[in-house]
Amino acid sequence: MNRKYRKTIIAGNWKMHKTPSEAKVFAEQLKSSLPRAKRCSIVLCVPYVDIPVAVKLLKDSRIAVGAQNLHWEEAGPFTGEISAAMLADLDVKYVIIGHSERRNLFFESDLTVNKKVHAALKAGLHPIICVGEDQDQRELGVTLELIAYQIKTALAGVSPEDMRHIVIAYEPIWAIGTGNTATPEQAGQVCSAIRGVLRKLYGARIARSTTIQYGGSMNEKNAADLLAQEDVDGGLIGSASLNPETFLQIIQAANQD
Ligand code: 13P
Repeated sequence: MNRKYRKTIIAGNWKMHKTPSEAKVFAEQLKSSLPRAKRCSIVLCVPYVDIPVAVKLLKDSRIAVGAQNLHWEEAGPFTGEISAAMLADLDVKYVIIGHSERRNLFFESDLTVNKKVHAALKAGLHPIICVGEDQDQRELGVTLELIAYQIKTALAGVSPEDMRHIVIAYEPIWAIGTGNTATPEQAGQVCSAIRGVLRKLYGARIARSTTIQYGGSMNEKNAADLLAQEDVDGGLIGSASLNPETFLQIIQAANQD
């Protein structure tokens, strides 16, 4: 983390977990036990159907609500899809774009990621853009090239002014849901390389002020070590965000120096 230049953001990604009733219980618990320290921003990316209850309960707290996906068109014949304007109208602030589960299970491409980033920005949402390599790509030694490509395509056409709304999440696919966290050094190295790509695209000032999260089996035990890396500005947390106690412990870790 480097709080001097950029926000530290701890975001939960619930994926397809929790009904609206369960979300209500969680939000009440989390809100009532939040630490006083406000050194990190907190986001909860919940399933679409949980958004209204989460927004209502967290309204006067400092926890922002996020979605996990959106469609790039403003409206139209896209059965089952949700637009950026629909999310913004519900007071959603963040949206995860290009999660590896969406890329792999729902065939999202770098091109659609880019379209979604533009749609989110147009509606005033903060995109959390996910990038990351799989095990084979890591072993082949192409991680940094792959990530540079993913970042460049995701951000194609994004103006320097809009970069202050962008969050990048480095999520190595081999670490997601596996319990195999990247070591702090591995996470730090890739997040620093991402900042290098941003520097080339947008210059030093914008690169320095962009939040880059790590995601992939981050939990209450390893969060402090991962966040101690200069270029790791927070976490995108799956399983450990489903329990208010473990999620709070990660928030506590992000509040430390
Ligand atoms: P886990 O923390 O469960 O590995 O999930 C990480 C993730 O995919 C967050 O988006």
